[in-house]
Amino acid sequence: MAGLSGYWSVAWVLLAALLPAARAQGACLAAVPAGNQCGGNESNPILTCASFSSCANQAWDGACCPAGAPCAQLGGPTCWTCGGQLPAYLRDLPDTIEGNCTRMVNGDFDYGCALGASMFFYMAQRTGRLPADNPVPWRGDSGLNDTAPNGQSISGGWFDAGDTTRFTFPAAYSMATLALGFIAFPEGYQRATQVAELKANLRWGADWLLKARYSPQHLVAATWAPGASIRQAHLFWGHPEDIRTPASVRVLGPGQPGADLLAQAAAALAATAVVLRQDDPDYAGLLVSEAQGLFTQAKDQEGLYSDSVPEVAGFYTSFSFIDDLAWAAAWIALATGDEGAAEEARLYWLRHITDEGGGEGRRFDYNNLQQGVGYLMHLLQPAKKDQYLQPIRDVTALWLEERSDIKFTSKGMAYIDTWGNLRYVANQALMALLHNKAYKGEYPHRALVYACFARKQARIMLGETGRSYVVGVGTNPVCRPHHRASSCGALSGRCDCSALRNPGCNPNVLYGALVGGPNADGEFKDDRNNYEQNEVALDWNAGFSGVLAGLAAGGMPSWEECRAAGLADGRGGASPDLSGAAAARAGWGAAAAAAAAAFALGALLA
Ligand SMILES: *[C@@H]1O[C@H](CO)[C@@H](O)[C@H](O)[C@H]1NC(C)=O
Ligand SMILES: *[C@@H]1O[C@H](CO)[C@@H](O)[C@H](O)[C@H]1NC(C)=O
Ligand SMILES: *[C@@H]1O[C@H](CO)[C@@H](O)[C@H](O)[C@H]1NC(C)=O
Repeated sequence: MAGLSGYWSVAWVLLAALLPAARAQGACLAAVPAGNQCGGNESNPILTCASFSSCANQAWDGACCPAGAPCAQLGGPTCWTCGGQLPAYLRDLPDTIEGNCTRMVNGDFDYGCALGASMFFYMAQRTGRLPADNPVPWRGDSGLNDTAPNGQSISGGWFDAGDTTRFTFPAAYSMATLALGFIAFPEGYQRATQVAELKANLRWGADWLLKARYSPQHLVAATWAPGASIRQAHLFWGHPEDIRTPASVRVLGPGQPGADLLAQAAAALAATAVVLRQDDPDYAGLLVSEAQGLFTQAKDQEGLYSDSVPEVAGFYTSFSFIDDLAWAAAWIALATGDEGAAEEARLYWLRHITDEGGGEGRRFDYNNLQQGVGYLMHLLQPAKKDQYLQPIRDVTALWLEERSDIKFTSKGMAYIDTWGNLRYVANQALMALLHNKAYKGEYPHRALVYACFARKQARIMLGETGRSYVVGVGTNPVCRPHHRASSCGALSGRCDCSALRNPGCNPNVLYGALVGGPNADGEFKDDRNNYEQNEVALDWNAGFSGVLAGLAAGGMPSWEECRAAGLADGRGGASPDLSGAAAARAGWGAAAAAAAAAFALGALLA
């Protein structure tokens, strides 16, 4: 053993001298008891964690430990680590962290500050060669060798969530939804001094979509590394910067069903063009022409991309595609002013409602764009505003009235889904704020109810009930998000499964990331294994950013007004607190309800 150790030490010193950028890995020393695993395989950069909830780990069999850290049992019988404890950099990390953005403004949270953190989150998700102004010290270049099937580089873009995959569908959705929040509430971004950050994020996403569109017939749909499948890639736990193998790539090609994916990519590019056209007309022009090419292909390839790229099923399965075509046409119409595109959008929107039943109809997300298309359509064809915004009223009513399996927890959080619930809540809050924006001063009571719903839910996200579900922001924020890079410590250090198992907070604070949040009973565990409640994702922060911008923009009824009107529960007067006097002050009456009922969808056909 001694001889072996000396050999490895010398080898390590030589290797370290040759590769100054390499990670500080210890020499390989102790043998691992048969059947157990320890500390990872020093010669294999792909460290995998076979199970998130136990230390059992087949892939580590036969691995070794650094000098002075013999393999020893840490937790249960299957849990072995080098030195019998967590690596030094993961020891004694705090159980809680202090939040940024804790200053309260007029009894409400500092939404502009939180918006800045949300922009930081997108920068922490970057892969590729990072720009000189990268604000995330614990992220470095990654995936530089990723290439499309024709050999062109597709380095760049974002990791989807806490993992090392790229999914074009939700990334494109996130871009267009970020743009939606920006065009509705630019003052929110301005007040928070986040306009440049928003634009940099959209440009980062668009630059990658241009690479993913590596030929006029092809679009990269998903990538992952390391490993042969997405599930294998999910076993990896470590610095994304340590992955040496180029990503596996799946592509949507000509003739394959995939209108949803192609149309969302078109929408993302057109939406980015809308935001960037004044700063950089040439770039915006390029984005529009690529968007038009994608849209044309989308119209020829109706059907679901998840049928053509089966690897994405179970991650980002798609359920409809006509709403995506409407979304793309509407964004292209906004980017170009082309009335033909606006008319196409209207027709696709109507077809979506008849053929796809309006989608799932209870929420806005990458699978259900109907409410968002309605908002865009009212910008394009203002005369039909009432009809185009009817879906927002219908769906918001489902939420406020706890219909269709939607409910409020005892602490007032709206609940619709076990996985990533707060993303759907944020999205509906955004829809409510968009409705207010569209109607400006009209229907003041409805505007008040909608603003109080959005504020109440945003307050809960930022810690009103004692815990913030936005990492590093607000009151007592969650600190163990399911996120590899954030769990890993400094880039110069090694990272492996012990970072997943570390009982303390993540050493790298993933500021601004909205986690999934509590279950239907209001229970939540700030646990790194708990990906349903405690992961993060590009799409989870997209609508949320718009909500923060809407609340930071000014012009929405304030929290003071919500309280004065008895609407502090954010539920539009379902609360027994809503006294007759408060209702009268708030202007509640039959007018709003009658107005809501007056516009049947059929009127659109007129
Ligand atoms: C470590 O990983 C390398 C590369 O995958 C493999 O060839 C080697 O056998 C592994 N070593 C042990 C001791 O498992
Ligand atoms: C968090 O607060 C620290 C200290 O004020 C500041 O330096 C940092 O920029 C903040 N981070 C974000 C993302 O807001
Ligand atoms: C990219 O590939 C080259 C050649 O295969 C390799 O030498 C290099 O280390 C790789 N770079 C990264 C960042 O993985």
